[in-house]
Amino acid sequence: MSVRIAPSVLSADFGRLADDVARCEAGGADWIHVDVMDGQFVPNLTFGAKVIDTLRRLTKLPLDVHLMVVEPEKYFDSFAGAGANVLTIHQEAAPHLHRQLHRIRELGCRAGAAINPSTPVESLRDVIVDLDLLLVMTVNPGFGGQKFIEGTVSKIARAKQMLMAAGSSATLEVDGGIARDTITRCWRAGADTFVAGNAVFSAPDAAAEIRELRARCSEQA
Ligand code: DX5
Ligand code: ZN
Repeated sequence: MSVRIAPSVLSADFGRLADDVARCEAGGADWIHVDVMDGQFVPNLTFGAKVIDTLRRLTKLPLDVHLMVVEPEKYFDSFAGAGANVLTIHQEAAPHLHRQLHRIRELGCRAGAAINPSTPVESLRDVIVDLDLLLVMTVNPGFGGQKFIEGTVSKIARAKQMLMAAGSSATLEVDGGIARDTITRCWRAGADTFVAGNAVFSAPDAAAEIRELRARCSEQA
């Protein structure tokens, strides 16, 4: 299974966004992760379609858009139109998850579902065939730079088992507190796509940090 590193621009310097995205590309980043927060689903407010459109002009890398919002379907059309490639919605904010995942695919995006640390992975069992990506949150969403929650490692393993048992090839992504000291455990548990904000952008050399994180996803690490 190949490894994807997805730097989160939540921790980028917005005065130098183009430079920070270029640094991610130089380090071999696979996706750019975009955290959309509405101040309701999570206690923080970030960006919308305009920033997705700006990022779309700055890079050809896939834009991995993580919607931490209530009523996420309100944003599907504008985000897809702005250039999002992956749209991930929270199970906790999506009572009609099946319909919403289908709508995301209709718009030509990959459809993802995220679960908070307190939400069982089994809650996604009946939509596995509708998922292109399953995101296990390894912190409570809302802010960058939080401490990784250890108990989520066994959950990543359960998510991997569930996907394999269903014959699903969906991406298994982790997000929150991913850094040199946590990434290998997540990779061993079965994750293949790693969001990293603080670890990448607080490093003296963001490109080198991306390479270092990737190197830690191997049996030698
Ligand atoms: C948390 C966001 C994350 C955040 C991760 O609510 O979903 O994507 O940017 O940041 P770090 O890697 O700093 O924990
Ligand atoms: Zn995120």
